[in-house]
Formats: sequence, structure tokens, C-alpha cells
Amino acid sequence: MKLWGGRFTQSTSAATDSFHSSISFDQRLFRQDIQGSMAHVEMLAEQGIILHDESKLICKTLLEIQSDIEEGKIVFDEKAEDIHMNIESILIQRIGDVGKKLHTGRSRNDQVALDMKMYVKQEILEIEQLVLSVQETLLSIAENNVKTYMPGFTHLQKAQPVTFAHHVMAYFEMLKRDSGRLRDCYSRTDTMPLGAGALAGTTYPINRELVREKLGFSELTRNSMDAVSDRDYCIELVSACSILMMHLSRFCEEIIIWTTNEFGYIELDDRFSTGSSIMPQKKNPDMAELIRGKTGRVYGGLMGLLTTMKSLPLSYNKDMQEDKEAVFDVIDTVKACLSIFDGMISTMKINKENCLKSLQTGFVNATDAADWLTKKGIPFRDSHEIIGKMVLYCSQHKKAIEELTLEEFKQLSPIFDESIYEAITIECCVENRNVIGGPAGSYMTNYIAECRQALSNN
Ligand code: ARG
Repeated sequence: MKLWGGRFTQSTSAATDSFHSSISFDQRLFRQDIQGSMAHVEMLAEQGIILHDESKLICKTLLEIQSDIEEGKIVFDEKAEDIHMNIESILIQRIGDVGKKLHTGRSRNDQVALDMKMYVKQEILEIEQLVLSVQETLLSIAENNVKTYMPGFTHLQKAQPVTFAHHVMAYFEMLKRDSGRLRDCYSRTDTMPLGAGALAGTTYPINRELVREKLGFSELTRNSMDAVSDRDYCIELVSACSILMMHLSRFCEEIIIWTTNEFGYIELDDRFSTGSSIMPQKKNPDMAELIRGKTGRVYGGLMGLLTTMKSLPLSYNKDMQEDKEAVFDVIDTVKACLSIFDGMISTMKINKENCLKSLQTGFVNATDAADWLTKKGIPFRDSHEIIGKMVLYCSQHKKAIEELTLEEFKQLSPIFDESIYEAITIECCVENRNVIGGPAGSYMTNYIAECRQALSNN
């Protein structure tokens, strides 16, 4: 018998039962559902809507049901649709009429909103922890590589020298913003919807404030129609996760490039690499590729949710049941990606020599040569032109800028003197860029320490 069967003369078809059932995926909300129901009935008793003894019996039985679910003793029933009605039906089977009072002054519409918000809040905290752990790993890598010189790229063409520390700290900044977005999303998820009922609140003298306090929410939702039809917090979470995945994916792309023979900047640990079934020599960066690939899947979740919501009239519509698989999949995917990513980057070997060797080609000190001229009084545009010619000359003569003789330098501009050689060493190119946010070790070391401190205050 359906909990809502009263107005029907026929039961649903088997096809309908299986089509609209969500128990296969929403059963993961059982703890939130039980916690929410307990707060609700305790409040009903405190308001004199049901008896204290009834509330106690319901709560005791709900806790028993919870441990039975945890121990795998419960077989959920597809016909009971979702986790909310499965638990309520089991409760009624166990304690009869008293169990039927649980749903007083409540609807599945505010109930599911509550469960999802509680779940999303918890998961945001867990994702934030994983992000924090990756940030700590990035700081450790940075601390050990303040003097690991490597080319910085634009257009994937060698541009100017930077350090490995500077490069990975760019990702630290991205993750810092990701964390901020997650926290932001948490604050907007933290509003308690119970009491909204189906859409128009309830006539029972409930106390929403009491429920809010019991469940640890900061605020109450303030419009019952919005409360049951709002899925912004799901979209915001998935959106924050999409941006986060985009960052991981960019780093993974660089890892994939850096592990090639052509680059050889890093080597991934065996524990995070795979071989080929045919080519014995292969060591492939599959983990990085999978994270890059799963980014598409997370974006898919975002597109799916936005599209599901875009034409829904107020208030609840069953379409919204489609939120769950997307949100759950995104959360599972992002958590798995973050922890694999953390393991992969914390164990990778950085080949400092190859990074340095890579700086010998590509004229990465050309800007510094131009700046040397400008500091001697030549307008920058002219310096640019002179060094441009120099690079052309060097390419034709297969020389690096620093390999030119002073005579050759002087042919391009008589202003050149011996001090040009020092000014265009990789070390000077990097260490003189001690602007706030730049790659110089003097700045980097302090900034990394500052970030360490900030993380530990978190
Ligand atoms: N399983 C439903 C969902 O996830 C719960 C709410 C159902 N409400 C309703 N009026 N049918 O959205």
C-alpha cells in the first residue's frame, strides 16, 4: 500500500514504479533523513502537536532503523519510491499508528530539500579538506623548488624564466579561490527549509527556529515556495566543482606534457602511472589523463542541472528529483580526483637539471637583454627592435644570446658592455623579478611562508 494511496483506485504500473523510483540512488541520504525526522518530531512534541512518548518512540525506532541500514539489514522497496517513504514505511511497520504521526506538518518537498542541504553542507566540508591537503602539498613542492629554474610559457612557447615554485604556486592561488567559492556556497546552503511544507507552509503551530537549532543551520529559509523549489545550492556546488576540476585539469595537462621525453621536467611515481599491454617501454600518465577526462563529466553535471531547472514553474516539480544523481556523481568524482591528484603530485620527481637545460634554448632571456638596454636609456620599443634582430642573428648562427661575443653585441648596439652577460643569466632574470607576485626567491620564500601560516590558521 502506497503512503499516498487514498485517492487512487488502481495501483501504479510496475513500469511507473521503476521509472519514478529514486531509492537506488537517494538511499545515501538515509542519515540526513533520519536526523531531520528526529528534529522534526522532537519539535512536534515540544509544541504539543504530538506526545513526548510518541516522539521518543519514533526517535528510538528511527535510530534502530539507521543502524539496521548501516549494517545492511534493510532491503529497500522500489515501490516505496524514495528514501523518505522507505524509512517512513519501515517505521510504520515497526511501531504502527504512532509512526504515522511522523509526517505531521511536513511534506516530502521540504523534507528532501532539508536532506539535500544537510548532505551538501557535509560534503562541502569534506571537499574543502581535500582541497586544503592539495594546497599543503603544493606548498611543500614550492618550498623545495624556489631555486628550480624552468621556462615559463605563453602560447606553449618558451617565454621568460620562472621557477618550479612559482609555477606550482599559481595553482595554489587557483585552489585558494576554489576554497572561497566552496565556503561561499556553504553559507547559502546553510538555510533550513523544514516548515515550508509542500509549498505554502503549515497551519500547525510548529517552531522552525527549534528545528533550525537542533540541526545546526545558521538561518531559516524565508519563503516557503522558494524553499521547496530552490536548487541553487546544488548548482553552485557543482559550478564551484566545475571550476575546481578545470584547475586540476590544467595542471594535469601540464603534467602530461612535462612527463614526455621531449620535456622530461618530471617523472611520475610508479604508483601513479600505468604501462601498455603491448609496448613494454611505456609509462603513461593515466591518472592525470583521467582527471582531465573526468572534468568533462563534472561539467556535464552542471549543464544537466542548469537545464533541468531552467523552465520549472514554482514550486516543486518532480523534475527536481534529477538533481541527485548529478550532485552525487560530481561530489564522488571531485573527491576521488582530489585525492588521486594529491598522491600523484606529492610523489612526482622533479628533474631540476632538465628544467634548467630547457632554459638554454628559446631565448628566454631576450626580455632581460632588452631591459638592460632600456635601463641604459634606450626607449623600450627600440630595445625590443634591437634584441629582435639579435634573436634573428642568434638563430641564424645557432647561438644563444649569452654566447655572443662582446663584439657581436656591440655590432647590434654600441652601448653594450661586459655587464650584459651578468644581466642575462637565468639567475638574474628570475631573482631580479622581485615584484610582489613575481618569481624571485626573495619574494617567493616569504609568500610561501605566509601561505603556510594562513593555512594553519584555517
Ligand atoms: N524523491 C523526491 C525528490 O527527490 C522527493 C520529493 C517528492 N515530492 C513529491 N511531491 N513527489 O525530489
